[in-house]
Amino acid sequence: MYPEKFQESIRKVEARRKENAAMEPVRMTADEKDALLKAYHPDYREDQFEQLKIGVNAGDKAPHELADMLQAHARVHEGDVDLEHPDYETDVLIIGGGGAGCSAAIEADEAGAKVMICTKLRPGDANTMMAEGGIQAADKEGDSPMQHFLDAYGGGHFAAKKELVAKLVTEAPEDIRWLNHLGVEFDKTDDGTMITTHGGGTSRKRMHACRDYTGMEIMRTLRDEVLNRKIPILDFTAAVEIIKDEEGKAAGAVFINMETDELIVVRAKAVILATGGAGRMHYQGFPTSNHYGATADGLVLGYRAGAKLLYEDTLQYHPTGAAYPEQIFGALVTEKVRSLGAKLVNCDGEVFVHPLETRDVEAAAIIRETGDRGKGVDTGHGKAVWLDSPMIDLINGEGTIEARIPAMYRMFEKRGIDMRKEPILVYPTLHYQNGGLEINTDCMTTVENLYAAGEVTGGVHGRNRLMGNSLLDVIVFGRDAGRAAGQKVKEVKNGKLTLAHVTAFEESIKEAGISTQKVSPKLLPNYLRDRNVYDGPKIQ
Ligand code: FUM
Repeated sequence: MYPEKFQESIRKVEARRKENAAMEPVRMTADEKDALLKAYHPDYREDQFEQLKIGVNAGDKAPHELADMLQAHARVHEGDVDLEHPDYETDVLIIGGGGAGCSAAIEADEAGAKVMICTKLRPGDANTMMAEGGIQAADKEGDSPMQHFLDAYGGGHFAAKKELVAKLVTEAPEDIRWLNHLGVEFDKTDDGTMITTHGGGTSRKRMHACRDYTGMEIMRTLRDEVLNRKIPILDFTAAVEIIKDEEGKAAGAVFINMETDELIVVRAKAVILATGGAGRMHYQGFPTSNHYGATADGLVLGYRAGAKLLYEDTLQYHPTGAAYPEQIFGALVTEKVRSLGAKLVNCDGEVFVHPLETRDVEAAAIIRETGDRGKGVDTGHGKAVWLDSPMIDLINGEGTIEARIPAMYRMFEKRGIDMRKEPILVYPTLHYQNGGLEINTDCMTTVENLYAAGEVTGGVHGRNRLMGNSLLDVIVFGRDAGRAAGQKVKEVKNGKLTLAHVTAFEESIKEAGISTQKVSPKLLPNYLRDRNVYDGPKIQ
């Protein structure tokens, strides 16, 4: 039950509900979308970006908060650690214990390599775990990987690397079978057929889901498989620097134990960065749907080692972050709510956008509605619009909400809001890093033997990702990176280990006249204290 201040607006939403549920909102033309994005999407706010001064992407645009981290001091330098006597030696070192990291570990192990996972928090503390709505794969009659390609490539504004999109969509059906075989409990009809729905920007119903906790179910299964294979995991161990050999190839990493501050050296023949996203950077002050450790660490580690970034200036603001009550501000309200029929309406109950435009367009439309158009609802800590969730049961029959999106239902019910009967308040939340480390089709970055997979990479989704293509990305490219690295290590012999690239990077900071006290990677958000002021190798 909402407080009195919302009731007048809720009555207007209720009055129009039946009519709104029955109508098909018009789709925007390409020109209308372009104009909307330029005027309202956060990626177009010029004052929120700056040109990088150093590194392989010098001259490119990046958000201020990311530029600060990419051009900050290192936490460890030559001489801080004994590279000649590593604490651990392995073939394939995987940094990150989320969906991409675990998929990579399974395949590298399958290829016969000695594998080790190091992860900053616990395995599964990752954006994969937070993913709700589903995973795309064109595996039904009337659909095809080509159709999936057109949706993903167009949705990303034709900016993605085509060869990566082609891998994403062609490997998708087999990867769904793999997950199903591993034990993921996908939603199915009584005869075992997978249930599939639409997402924003999809031309076919190809979203496979496990209710509205798809990522959690996939993560559970992958983590079990990693544990069953007895792949060693160092948890609460954050990577702070990539180690190279004398030929400039990646050859391990330096880590810090998050509890004891002990520095740890791991020597490896290949390194896979699977560190995930950046929501906890809170670009432009946005709240986030991301897990606690999503602080762009992989971009910093790769960049200082000389790996090129692609589209580091493009972020995804999920249109429907929870905007009320304050305790769940920024939490994800899955797109599945809209794919099941709920529409976005303003304070007067008017539908102002088609509910399944691509995410960037939806987010920009909400920002316009609550801003220049003055049609937002004042929540007390910002403006929001209504997502008219009771439409779902109205359209699909009573019980649909509890059956298909039980986690959403519980999240609001625990806070006194019954989304079966009352609409919910939403506003865009920082959800995904569209850009990241550039990779080739073997998932190798521009640094030899440094691989990357999942949200840390750029190029798979262009400048905007479609729903369900990130869970797919972590599986497809996680597996591919594991396979490629697992094969590659058979021919790798590294030479002497070095952190000379860190010294060179520090020199370039000086030469560029950058004056900063910051250190990176960020490791954790700064809610309580600033962990990013340099005071030696420790993170305190
Ligand atoms: O809306 C969602 O459930 C999010 C899915 C995704 O980012 O792919």
